[in-house]
Amino acid sequence: MQNIDFKHLAQRYQTPLYVYDFPKIQENFLAFKEAFAGRKSLICYALKANSNLSLIAHLAQMGAGADCVSFGEVRRALLAGIPKYKIIFSGVGKRDDEIEGALREDILFLNVESFGELKRIEKIAQALNLQARISVRVNPNIDAKTHPYISTGMAKNKFGVEIEEAKEMYLYIKHSNALEAVGIHFHIGSQICDLSPFIEASNKIAKLLTSLLALGLSIKFFDVGGGLGVCYDDENPIALYDYAQGILASLGGLEPTIICEPGRRIVAESGYFLTRVIGEKQNSHKRFVIVDGAMNDFLRPSLYEAYHRSTLLDSKSLDSSLCDIVGPICESGDYLAKDVLLPSTQEGDLIVFEGAGAYGYSMSSNYNTRTKPAEVALTENGIKLIRGRESLEDLFAKELECYESNKA
Ligand code: LLP
Repeated sequence: MQNIDFKHLAQRYQTPLYVYDFPKIQENFLAFKEAFAGRKSLICYALKANSNLSLIAHLAQMGAGADCVSFGEVRRALLAGIPKYKIIFSGVGKRDDEIEGALREDILFLNVESFGELKRIEKIAQALNLQARISVRVNPNIDAKTHPYISTGMAKNKFGVEIEEAKEMYLYIKHSNALEAVGIHFHIGSQICDLSPFIEASNKIAKLLTSLLALGLSIKFFDVGGGLGVCYDDENPIALYDYAQGILASLGGLEPTIICEPGRRIVAESGYFLTRVIGEKQNSHKRFVIVDGAMNDFLRPSLYEAYHRSTLLDSKSLDSSLCDIVGPICESGDYLAKDVLLPSTQEGDLIVFEGAGAYGYSMSSNYNTRTKPAEVALTENGIKLIRGRESLEDLFAKELECYESNKA
C-alpha cells in the first residue's frame, strides 16, 4: 500500500474508486499452484469474488480455471479467455436456460445441488442429445466456524445434498445415458481461518469417494471448494501448504485431480476502496466522517459488520479521535467503519479501505440512484482503467427506453 499513489489515482479517475494490485493477485494465485505442485490440480478462481473481465483475463494467463455461479459468470469466464474445459458451474438454483447454456458451451462439469436438479439436467441433456458431465455437491454437515451468512456446509444450510442422497444420485447417474459422473464437490463456507473443518470435510468426502469408486464410478475430480480466509484485522490465515497437505492426506492412496475454488484468498488483499471526505459532523454523542463511498459501493461493513482497515492519507494532524466513517446513503446502517481512530479530516481528503478486492465491486448496487465506481488495475506495465465509472445515462438507459415508449 505504501507504494501506491492514491492521490494521483483519485485525481485521474475520481472517487469512489476500486484499485487492484495485479502483481499481488498473481502472487496469490501462484501460491495455490505451488501448494498443490506435484499433484494434478486445477485452481478454479471463484468469479463471484470479483468478476472484472480484465482481472479474470489476468488469472487466465496464469492457467486459472473458473468457478461460476450463474450462466452470466460462465460467459464472463469464456470472454476473458478461460478455456471451456477449465470452467465449472455451481449454484443452488440453476435455471433450465442456464443449464442448457452451460451444456452447449461444453464446460468441464456442473456441480449439482439436488436430485431434482440432476433430473432436470438429464432431461435437458437428452433433448440436446449429449451427455452432461456431473459432480455432486455434498453437504458434509460441518461447522466452518465463520460468519453465519457465509457458512454453507451444515445441514441447516440450503447447499448441496446429504451423503446418503449423494450416493443415490451417483447410482442414478451410473444408469443414465445422458449423465456422466466425473467429480465430487464440497464447499463449507467462506473466510475460514481454522484448518480443522476443511480436513474434517475432506475426510468425510474422501471416504464417500472411496465407496463410489468401489461401485464402479470413475470420478476423476475432487473439488474441495473455496473458503480460505484472509487477514482483515488480526486473523491468522491458514498456510496453503498445510491446507494442501491436509487435503492430500485425506485422500490416502487416491489420486484424483484436485480442484480448488478460491475467491477471496486470491483477490481480497489485492484490492483497495478509495473514497474522498465530503465533510465531518459531530453531535453530543459521536463524530462522523462523511465520505463519498457508501454501502451501495462496498457492502461488507454494513452487511456482515466486517472490518476493513481505513487510513486517512497525507494526514497533517497528530491527534486522532474515535469516529464512524459513513456514506451519503439514507440508512443508519450505511457505514464503512465503526468506532475507528482517525485524525481530523478536511474536505477533499482521501480515505482508503483495505482488503476490498473480494466481494467489493461484485456486491455493489445502484441504491439511492448512485452510479457504480470505476475500477483500475496497477500492473507491471502501468496503471490501467479496467472499468469506466458508470454514468447516469448508463444507469437510466433500460428504464428510459420503456418510459419513453410507454409515453408515446
Ligand atoms: N465455491 C463456492 C461454491 C462458493 O459458494 C464460494 C463462495 C466460493 C467457492 C469462494 O469462496 P471464497 O474462497 O471466496 O471464500 N459475500 C461474502 C462471501 C460469500 C461467499 C459465497 N461463496 C463476503 O463478502 O464475505
